[in-house]
Parts: sequence; structure tokens; C-alpha cells
Amino acid sequence: MLSYRHSFHAGNFADVFKHTLLLQLLLALKRKDKPFCILDTHAGAGRYDLLYSKSAAKNREYGEGIGRLWSQPELGPELSEYRKQVQALNPNGELRYYPGSPLLTRGLLRPGDRLILTELHPSDYPLLKTVFSGDRQTAVHHADGYAALKAFLPPIERRGLVFIDPAFELRDEFERLIDAVQVIHRRWASGITALWYPILDRAPSLRFHRALRESAIPAVLCAELGLQSYDTPFGLHGCGMIIINPPWQFDERLKRLLPELRQRLQSSENGQIQLDWLTPAP
Ligand SMILES: C[S@@+](CC[C@H](N)C(=O)[O-])C[C@H]1O[C@@H](n2cnc3c(N)ncnc32)[C@H](O)[C@@H]1O
Repeated sequence: MLSYRHSFHAGNFADVFKHTLLLQLLLALKRKDKPFCILDTHAGAGRYDLLYSKSAAKNREYGEGIGRLWSQPELGPELSEYRKQVQALNPNGELRYYPGSPLLTRGLLRPGDRLILTELHPSDYPLLKTVFSGDRQTAVHHADGYAALKAFLPPIERRGLVFIDPAFELRDEFERLIDAVQVIHRRWASGITALWYPILDRAPSLRFHRALRESAIPAVLCAELGLQSYDTPFGLHGCGMIIINPPWQFDERLKRLLPELRQRLQSSENGQIQLDWLTPAP
């Protein structure tokens, strides 16, 4: 089943959350000169036209995400960095194009760094391929992102990040994620993993946390942003990111960033944030 298209959701609050955290992880990797490799397993189309594509125009989800931040004054350093990356795609100052995770990541690579992208959708893969055509630092594969973990890890650089951002169309996606973190841990225990998940019903995400706590994988940090009360019946109420082996003091950075995200993005009084170590660092 591949009916999910990210173009309907590009730039929404969940993208602001996941992409701001992703950029901070990349900036942390850049603090050392040694090259790194990023594997983005569910890459999407790479770039989205918010104004002239029917899908983005349908629900205008970006209006509750990047649209809210576009002209806000005095953003904190993390949101400022994120907005700067989106502005780079829109040099005339009008918000039209939104960079997906591949393009945001590409914007931060240095000449020796590498990016590997996998995308399974038969329509999004060619779009992604076109965005990176001729780019010698980026490899684009029409492949299953979970299979990519076995194909590409560990990377020769032995430094870097696996970014997993599934579509959550499959009922067993959380179970697949638990398997995925086990595979990554076995193959590349020192790499950073960042893994996004939605919060619709609360119960599956709490079961997911429990499974991670019981996994015996060390250094699992969990950050969540909810914009509505979790017992509201329908819709995407919030989302979370699991970060395994986060960079030093990343949790301190999130302590500052999460309240700002909630304050800038929330539309009701029911916003909530959470930051927990599910398992401690060794
Ligand atoms: C949430 S979107 C990714 C958005 C992208 N990471 C970004 O931040 O811009 C999830 C993507 O995963 C793709 N997908 C679904 N199952 C997949 C699989 N098993 N392997 C790779 N890609 C998959 C979907 O087609 C969709 O484009």
C-alpha cells in the first residue's frame, strides 16, 4: 500500500518539528571535521511546491507550520536556522517551495560528506531523482528503506545519522521500527538514529516507548510535541522523535527548543511537550 504522498503535508507542524531537530543533529555532526554519511530511508519527493501544486493547496497544512514561522520576528537560534534553510529555496522572500528532509540535509553537507536516499513510491522516486540529478555526493535509490539498513550500514565513514520518517500507512509500522532499531544497533551501534512518529491515538506511541525501554539499546531520547489534547477523537494531535545516541547536550538544547515550538505553533491551549530518556546513556 503506497497511497501516502508527502506533498499533501509538506511544511506542516510535524515537518517543522522533525526538520528543526534534524538540522540540529546535522549541525552537531559538523562540529568535527571527519566526514559523515546520512541515510534517509523514507526520503519523499525532496522538494514541494506549496503554492502551485493541487496536493499542497488542498488543505494548506503548511499554513499551520512553516507558514506561521515565515514572518515571525526574533526566532530562537534553532528555528532561525531552520527558517534560513527554507528561505534559501525562496530567495525572493515569498514562501513557495518547501525542502523535504533530503534537500535540507544536502544544504548542510560539506564536500567530503555523503547522503544516501531511499524512496519506494513510484511517483515520488522520479521526482526525488530529478532533484538530485548530477549530484555526486547524493545517491538516490528506488528501494525499501528498511532493506536499506542492511544494504548500507555501517557506512565507511563510521560517523553519521540514519533518519527514518515512515508514512505510517501500515498497521505494523511501530513494530517495523522496533526491528529497524535492532538492526541498526547490531550493525552500527555508535551511529545516531533519528526516527519520527505520529501521535494520533496515544496508546500505540506509549507501547512503542515501552518496547524501546525494554530493547536494551542504550541512550534513547524521546522528544514529543502535541498541539492538541491526546484524547481528541480524530487527527494528528502531535508527533515525536526518537533520537538514539544523541550528540552531547542535545537534550539541553531540546529543553529550550520544545517550549518555543509549542509556543510558536500551537493553536489551542492544549499544547504539550515531553522530553524523556527512555534508556540512559552508558
Ligand atoms: C513522511 S514521508 C517522508 C518525508 C521526508 N522524509 C521529508 O521529511 O521530507 C514518507 C515517505 O516514505 C515513503 N515510503 C513508504 N514506505 C516506504 C518504504 N518501505 N521504503 C522507503 N520509502 C517508503 C512514502 O512514499 C513517502 O514518500
